[in-house]
Amino acid sequence: MPELDVSTTVNGRPVEMRLPTRLTLADFVRDRLGLTGTKVSCGMQVCGACTVLVDGDPVSACSYLACDVDGREVLTVEGLADGGELTPVQRAFVDCSALQCGFCTPGFVMAATALLRDEPHPTEEQIAHHLDGNLCRCTGYLPIVEAVLKASRAGGIDE
Ligand code: FES
Ligand code: FES
Repeated sequence: MPELDVSTTVNGRPVEMRLPTRLTLADFVRDRLGLTGTKVSCGMQVCGACTVLVDGDPVSACSYLACDVDGREVLTVEGLADGGELTPVQRAFVDCSALQCGFCTPGFVMAATALLRDEPHPTEEQIAHHLDGNLCRCTGYLPIVEAVLKASRAGGIDE
């Protein structure tokens, strides 16, 4: 398989690696970097479990080529908590019991983080619209929307 040299930043850390051109971003962060917080469920850009941010925008890492992050910044769920201190979005998911098995949770947290960065005070409708690419099989969506509202009231993404 052809390979390319990739220079990127993952969770603030510079990474330079030679990668197969067909390697997905999900396999890159999970298998090459050990960042297994990013989950793969459908593997076909349907469920959002694999959502990470590339230059601040949410992408489905299962369907995104790792080589395409060359020169760009990747943020995974491991890059959110600062020194173990959860972000308001992470705290709100816990406080609102917005998870059960938790498999979908990193994807929701990353998507919600991107939303609050762009829109610090979203309405319920805006939240539902923004998260409509993320599926949860067990919790239901009301606690998740409530968690994003709580995070918004708590000051957004940083505090
Ligand atoms: S695992 Fe990527 S969208 Fe479902
Ligand atoms: S908490 Fe289990 S899939 Fe969402």
